[in-house]
Amino acid sequence: MSYILALDQGTTSTRAIIFDGDLRVVSVAQEEFPQLYPASGWVEHDPEEIWRTVLTTVQTALGTAGLDAKDIAALGITNQRETTVVWDRVTGVPIHNAIVWQDRRTAPACAALHAAGHEAMIAARTGLLLDPYFSGTKLAWLLENVPGAAERALRGDLAFGTIDSYLIWQLTGGKVHATDATNAARTLLYDIGRNAWDAEICALLNVPMGLLPEVKDCADDYGVTDPALFGAEIPILGVAGDQQAATVGQACFTPGMMKSTYGTGCFALLNTGAERVASQNRLLTTIAYRLDGQTTYALEGSIFIAGAVVQWLRDGLKVIAQAAETQGLAEAADPAQGLVLVPAFTGLGAPYWNPDCRGAVFGLTRNSGPAEFARAALESVGLQTRDLLEAMRADWGSAAEGVLRVDGGMAASDWTMQFLADILGAPVDRPVVTETTALGAAYLAGLKAGICPPPDQFAARWALERRFTPALPRAERNAKYARWQRAVQAAMAV
Ligand code: G3P
Repeated sequence: MSYILALDQGTTSTRAIIFDGDLRVVSVAQEEFPQLYPASGWVEHDPEEIWRTVLTTVQTALGTAGLDAKDIAALGITNQRETTVVWDRVTGVPIHNAIVWQDRRTAPACAALHAAGHEAMIAARTGLLLDPYFSGTKLAWLLENVPGAAERALRGDLAFGTIDSYLIWQLTGGKVHATDATNAARTLLYDIGRNAWDAEICALLNVPMGLLPEVKDCADDYGVTDPALFGAEIPILGVAGDQQAATVGQACFTPGMMKSTYGTGCFALLNTGAERVASQNRLLTTIAYRLDGQTTYALEGSIFIAGAVVQWLRDGLKVIAQAAETQGLAEAADPAQGLVLVPAFTGLGAPYWNPDCRGAVFGLTRNSGPAEFARAALESVGLQTRDLLEAMRADWGSAAEGVLRVDGGMAASDWTMQFLADILGAPVDRPVVTETTALGAAYLAGLKAGICPPPDQFAARWALERRFTPALPRAERNAKYARWQRAVQAAMAV
């Protein structure tokens, strides 16, 4: 039996998951790592700490499964996207902490680029908007603010990468500096139509192109792991950003298919096939996957706070001790109170793209308590998803009217998924396997290794666990959504 190892390097934890050749989970190891908040709106990770969690989780997953590295036929990597690392090409040591996707420090730089009239050109080529979310301005910040970095970059001493690139470099002992097309598509530096780094945008951001990794297909040869790490070489054969890996894991291979993943944030992707749809509604155009040189595109809606709102109930408000308590509280809440929570803790993503907006609560009464806050928090996730679906329907027409496939931690909450179906007015499908991100990475690696079947056969194996069917009358659904829209506008006006 050949096994596949998937590494899912996420925003708050690293997971190593071993699948058998039929893509059944054999073992899972997970480790959280510290979130660093050096200033208001700044979020950093220590890349060396992330690398340490990769080593320990892989070793634990192998140990739990009773396997050795030589039993692993392929390694697939999936990762938090956009998070930016720059390291020394000789020592492999990062020159600074990684700047995380949530970090807002480059909002002024984005505003300046916008004011100078560059957004239309950048959007046309990259599919993205001028928002601090993406890697390009984070990389420019590092080069400008780390002493000596700009000169070292010009000398060719430094390498840039998103987390996948940094891990590939470390795993191969510095032999391979590469990324895949989906991660490249999140940097603000990559022309998704030509499938090439864009010299003009790099020049605009003062990014020497020698810093950039080679861009490969999602199922491709990324070298082998240094045998000193795990006792034998493991071929690295699959790479995709986590939301794109989930799109693959959900088998959204046909234009019009959509998935939404509820992790720290929520990211909905709509497969648009070979067509690169330019959004008229502030969605992103991105690469869903690239296989055998063929690019499949997606429209993406990105929400920064989804599961993180439950963490806030636990760690900020301290009204729950564990995330799982939220559903019970929401069920017990007085629905007549109609509390609306806009969780714009780090600004708003799609379709508003307002980095300066902050959270707000509307409709407070003396009876508003933990239950009402919990309900409003869970509802905010569904309401934000409706914002995305509205934009997708406007951009893509009735093809986006279909079913939404869901995964991620919050998809486990029946209450939240029923509310989601109710507020969308569309069916919500939860698969049997909700480890879709890791599954997608494992599938891509297994595809390259010749262990996994082609996409259509893989798609036929996708199995439904439960469909949530909309039950809320249309008038009620729309009234609730209209109230949310007014709340968002008010939050942005403060
Ligand atoms: O774009 C950011 C996204 O890739 C992060 O995903 O699952 O770590 O919240 P997650």
